[in-house]
Amino acid sequence: MSTSHTLPRHIAIIMDGNGRWAKQKNLPRSAGHNAGAKAVERTIRAAEKLGIEFLTFYAFSTENWSRPQEEINGLMNLLEKTLDKYMREAKTNNLRILISGRREPLPPHLLAKIDQLTAETAHKTGLTVVLALNYGSRAELLDAVQKLVQDGIKNPTQADLQARLYQPTVPDPELLIRTSGEKRLSNFLLWQCAYTEFYFTDTLWPDFSEKDLSAAVEDFSRRTRRFGGL
Ligand code: FPP
Repeated sequence: MSTSHTLPRHIAIIMDGNGRWAKQKNLPRSAGHNAGAKAVERTIRAAEKLGIEFLTFYAFSTENWSRPQEEINGLMNLLEKTLDKYMREAKTNNLRILISGRREPLPPHLLAKIDQLTAETAHKTGLTVVLALNYGSRAELLDAVQKLVQDGIKNPTQADLQARLYQPTVPDPELLIRTSGEKRLSNFLLWQCAYTEFYFTDTLWPDFSEKDLSAAVEDFSRRTRRFGGL
């Protein structure tokens, strides 16, 4: 890995391919999600090593509620276990955890853990990990517009809308990674990805490694970003 001058500050990841990974191994889909959670941990450690400041994971979308109830329950349990683990580890690490998404209809015990963990890590100065949980970009934009109306703002600026997103202080991602060969945005960070570089890899999410992250960052560092200029 070269020491690039154009390291992205913020990387957003669409973790795709857990189900296919499990299928290839004749395992239940839940095994794919469990292995996916391990890949999240590997990626956090790799991002810390590289000096990335913000890492966003698309953990559960507003559309994922249409999956079979058993899979939803499994994912919710896995997320809860992950929050518990981060809570225990918060004593010794320097991660700041933020959640991005609609609170409704997440179960109250999960919301309580989210609030506890985000409060516990609010002062941390290391990598900020954003878990997009019950997140959908259209829902986020609609919620922001409703807040503008509630606040009586008749001629909103971009900054007014930005200030009403779920995590208004998190900078836009410079790099978005999607695994498993799919090339779609799937209702993720539509506003925030206006100038984001996209990186697609065939690697299935549970196999995503430090090497894959480095390859994505290297690829990013070779691109020229013009932001509409010349
Ligand atoms: C996409 O794979 C993945 C998801 C919908 C869930 C992502 C969740 C995790 C990686 C688990 C834990 C997350 C955290 C933050 C601890 P898919 O099921 O759509 O795979 P497929 O397209 O191969 O079926």
